[in-house]
Amino acid sequence: MSRLPAVARTLPALRRALDALRTRRATIALVPTMGALHDGHLALVRQARRRASKVVVSIFVNPTQFAPHEDFGSYPRTWKADMEKLAAERADLVWNPGVDIMYPPNFATRILPEGPATANLEDRFRPHFFGGVATVVGKLFTQCRPDIAVFGQKDYQQLKVVTRMAADLDLGVKVIGVPTVRERDGLAMSSRNVYLSSDQRAVAPILHRTMKDAAKRLRNGDDLKTVMADGARTIEHAGFALDYFEARHAETLAPIPSITDGPIRLLVAAKIGTTRLIDNIGV
Ligand code: PAF
Repeated sequence: MSRLPAVARTLPALRRALDALRTRRATIALVPTMGALHDGHLALVRQARRRASKVVVSIFVNPTQFAPHEDFGSYPRTWKADMEKLAAERADLVWNPGVDIMYPPNFATRILPEGPATANLEDRFRPHFFGGVATVVGKLFTQCRPDIAVFGQKDYQQLKVVTRMAADLDLGVKVIGVPTVRERDGLAMSSRNVYLSSDQRAVAPILHRTMKDAAKRLRNGDDLKTVMADGARTIEHAGFALDYFEARHAETLAPIPSITDGPIRLLVAAKIGTTRLIDNIGV
C-alpha cells in the first residue's frame, strides 16, 4: 500500500508542512476539494503532479457555499477512502481545517465576486454560492500560497470566477482548468451522483447526450434558438426540472446572439428528484 499523505489541520501545522515542501525550489500545486473524491478529482491531482513538484490537496466541506436548504449536513464525507486514493496518487499533503479554523468566531470578511459570478447562470439559482466559493478559495490560496491551482471544468462558472479572483487580487496563482471526467455513458462525475436512485441514474446521462446533440447541430449551422429550445424540451421530457440550458460565450459567459459570436460553451443545470446536476461542453 502507498504511504498516506501528511495531514495538516491547523494553520501552524500547515505552515510547517509547506515550509518542508518548499525546500530546493519546489513548485506547489493546490487542488481544492470538498472530499468524497472520485476519478474526476484524481484527474485534477494527476494534472497537479504533472505541473508541479509538490501536490497539496485541500479537503474542506465549505459551509458558506451552501444555502440553509442545501445538502451541507448530508454532503458525502469519505475521509478514509479519500486518503487511500490520495496515497495512490502520491499527493504530498492534505490540508483539512475544521470549520472553526477556516471561520473562527468573529469572522467578518468576505470576497464578493462580480463579472463571471453574476452571469445569471448558477448565481440565479444559488445566489450565496460564489461568495462562499470565492471567500474559501481566496483563503486557501493565501494559506497555501501555491504556484498553480487546479480546478475541474465541470464547474465551469466556478472555474471562471476563481480565475478572475486570482488575477484581480494579485494572488500570484496560475489557475488551470481540467476537462470533465465522465462515466462510460457520459454522465459527468460528481460527488453528488451518489444521491441518484437507479432509475434517476439511468436517466441522468441524457444531459450530456442532449448537449452533444445540440453542439453538433450548432456546428452544422442549425438555428441557435431552435437548437436550444429543442434541447430544453428533451431534458424536461426525460423528467428533469430544468434550471437552465444556455449557450454562452466560453470566456466571458455573456449570452450570445448567434453562433458566430462564439467560442460557445453550452451549460446546463437540472434537478432529477431532489438531486441537482450541472454540466457543460464546448461547441
Ligand atoms: O468545487 C468544489 O469542490 C468547491 O466548490 C471548492 C472549489 C473546493 C470550494 O469549496
